[in-house]
Amino acid sequence: MRVTQFDLPERYEYQTGFAANLETEAIPGALPIGQNSPQKCPYGLYAEKISGTAFTAPRWENQQTWVYRIIPSAAHSTFKPADSGGRFKTEFHHVPNQQRWDPFDFAEREVDWVDGLNLVAGAGDPSLKQGVGYYIYAVNKSMDPKTALYSADGDMLIVPQTGAMDIQTEMGRLLVRPNEIVVIPRGVRYRVNLADESSPLRGYVLELYQGHFQLPELGPIGSNCLANARDFQIPVAAYEHDTKSEWTIYNKFCGELFRAKQMHTPFDVVAWEGRYYPYKYDLGRFNTIGTISYDHPDPSLNTVLTATTNAHPGTAIADFVIFPPRWLVAEDTFRPPSYHRNVMSEFMGLISGSYIAKGGGKGGFQAAGASLHNCMSSHGPDLAAFEKASNEELKPVKVGEGSMAFMFESCYMVGITEWGLKSCQKLQENYSEESWSELKDLFQPPTNLHRDGHENGQ
Ligand SMILES: [Fe+2]
Repeated sequence: MRVTQFDLPERYEYQTGFAANLETEAIPGALPIGQNSPQKCPYGLYAEKISGTAFTAPRWENQQTWVYRIIPSAAHSTFKPADSGGRFKTEFHHVPNQQRWDPFDFAEREVDWVDGLNLVAGAGDPSLKQGVGYYIYAVNKSMDPKTALYSADGDMLIVPQTGAMDIQTEMGRLLVRPNEIVVIPRGVRYRVNLADESSPLRGYVLELYQGHFQLPELGPIGSNCLANARDFQIPVAAYEHDTKSEWTIYNKFCGELFRAKQMHTPFDVVAWEGRYYPYKYDLGRFNTIGTISYDHPDPSLNTVLTATTNAHPGTAIADFVIFPPRWLVAEDTFRPPSYHRNVMSEFMGLISGSYIAKGGGKGGFQAAGASLHNCMSSHGPDLAAFEKASNEELKPVKVGEGSMAFMFESCYMVGITEWGLKSCQKLQENYSEESWSELKDLFQPPTNLHRDGHENGQ
């Protein structure tokens, strides 16, 4: 079975199919047939439409969902500012150095999902719907009962590294474990619980301030491989009936946090139809493609999801790329990623195991840590990785067993927040010098070379 063998068994049912128009009802007959807005909806429900794209967006990218709920989401008190300690502010310091972070810590105090999200890096501005935000989360308690959150700023792609998340959303429930990812669309109300109260949550988030994720084009690969549409799992409608207790709705809006009260649960959707919904994906199902002859293909071959622009096809606002266990068989080839400068910015994280181009251990690239190689910042294998790859016997070998690294790759110049530079206290001081300054001069020119110039030291 090409699926991850999770310690924690699945709890919920799902529908499948990336970007499919789906429909689901928790009570038979709750979904109107043949129309969206009947004069009276079945069972006294209210119809509400959530538009994830402009009304007039082209059909292939148009995303909306009709929900049939007990009380419309508009029934809430005025949003008032809530103290977020500046954790979501898109104020970035742009530095050209290669950066790397040690594993991020859990707090000593109790921290839930809303308190545990820290913006570490990003680019752009949610107010113009341009850019990306990268977060680290470390959470040791479920959100308080009767609280929910939504982000008006963008879709959140969550990459768990530690601990399973039990997520309640307007469209239904999802269990998301390390080696799975989940995307919560902009505006959708959700709450995050620890699936196991004794297992805290830690991981990474990519918030997309513009557009939505798509599956990458497959080109000559054909109509299958990489992430297949059928493997994306979407919740089925699941509602609760509570119009008597007070709920708090948090709203991340333009990098600030707001809070409103309402006397009904936001999770009261009895039926829905559309294609704007949360979805999860097991990275163990990724069909990895690589060379069967020679040379190292670009990591774009490992793209799970991409968000691109119509203006520049193939240039991603954000690619989510993974490095799963895979066979390396290339002949006469330096098999790790080569030395590289990239117009795109590469933010990497490690869910488990180790990564082929970097040493692990203390001060290395470790699970729950991160690295950022910005626009045109040089990077590549460190000395140990170079020497090993240059001299090893090139027999077929399986790499990355038990390991999963990933990359958020963006066309933007990615800056780092004050938290990422200082407050988190995880930034490694001498990453770049320690990684590459020891690379040796291996140049051996032919001794009979006739040249006009001369070499240093001669
Ligand atoms: Fe690179």
